[in-house]
Amino acid sequence: MAEISTVEIDKIRSKKHRILPTPDLTYTPEVARETEHLYERVSKVVPVIEWPSFAPYIKAINDLKRERNAVILAHNYMTPEIFHCIGDFMGDSLQLAKEASSTDADVIVQAGVHFMAETSKVLNPDKLVLMPDMDAGCSLADSITAADIRALREAYPGVPIVTYVNTSAEVKAECDICCTSSNAVKVVESLNSPRVIMVPDEYLAKYVATKTDVEIISWKGHCEVHERFSGDELREYRDANPGIRIIAHPECPPDVISEADFTGSTSGMINWVKDNRPNKVLLVTECSMSDNVAVETPDVEFIRPCNLCPHMKKITLPSVLKSLTHLRHEVIVDPGIIVPARRAVERMINLTN
Ligand code: 13P
Ligand code: SF4
Repeated sequence: MAEISTVEIDKIRSKKHRILPTPDLTYTPEVARETEHLYERVSKVVPVIEWPSFAPYIKAINDLKRERNAVILAHNYMTPEIFHCIGDFMGDSLQLAKEASSTDADVIVQAGVHFMAETSKVLNPDKLVLMPDMDAGCSLADSITAADIRALREAYPGVPIVTYVNTSAEVKAECDICCTSSNAVKVVESLNSPRVIMVPDEYLAKYVATKTDVEIISWKGHCEVHERFSGDELREYRDANPGIRIIAHPECPPDVISEADFTGSTSGMINWVKDNRPNKVLLVTECSMSDNVAVETPDVEFIRPCNLCPHMKKITLPSVLKSLTHLRHEVIVDPGIIVPARRAVERMINLTN
């Protein structure tokens, strides 16, 4: 059984971290008034009939954040009522890792998946990092273990190992440097090696191999959301929507990437839409992201092939409220893992700064 540290016990006993009663969740005129400006933000994608069920949670969560000195790091795949109404920092994996390394909040709530919360803990060992739902995992993170990395080191002595951020802290601790989809090429080339091992995403590795002369040795991990898209499906969308622009995440299979007009991380895709303002666009990625961008680009029409990430969708307003009220579920990373995992993550952050 894991022992709780004295630092954590002191925090839990202190006023800021005491367990609070569950707030009243009635949709009163006061709640309506206080959340009106937030509804305006999301009115294009959240039906008015749903707002009375969201607003009391949003108000309670925003009040609790102040009381706890907490921040919510919201990934681009969160639903719009989370992303636009309770998130303090929003972005792709790299942006969230950077925010996690610079926040002075006492509590970090990760509105994302477990590997992201572990990265926040690795960068903030003395803060309380909370996951609203511990079952919010990731098929890529589950596809590789620390023992697999040790076996790769034996099979390829001297070849540097880059790990995608979508891995456990134990895996990061065994690797030389971390990368995200927005900096993978830069990270691989920074190693000045003719061969590099890239784990665990086979498709990201294949995509990087098309952008560099470095020989890439890949692993067989896949994202269960992005691997479901196909080039044939995209060609059907193109035929049915003349002039449509297709933007893909590099976790997609190669036949999808070759159909895309642009490939980039979740934030890279968002920025592309904001900068290029196409009449019609299809974002080949998790479908909540289209809703989040649509809020800020009302002139763009989004065609949504809706592939949901079942892990990201475990984060809901009720699970975030419970997390902040009862201070659960605390993310704990072994101190022996934190130091080498942080080295790999900070090496990436320093490179991209
Ligand atoms: P980004 O780093 O592009 O946000 O990707 C994270 C992720 O899990 C995509 O499926
Ligand atoms: Fe993991 Fe794919 Fe979900 Fe991203 S979308 S968290 S890679 S399963």
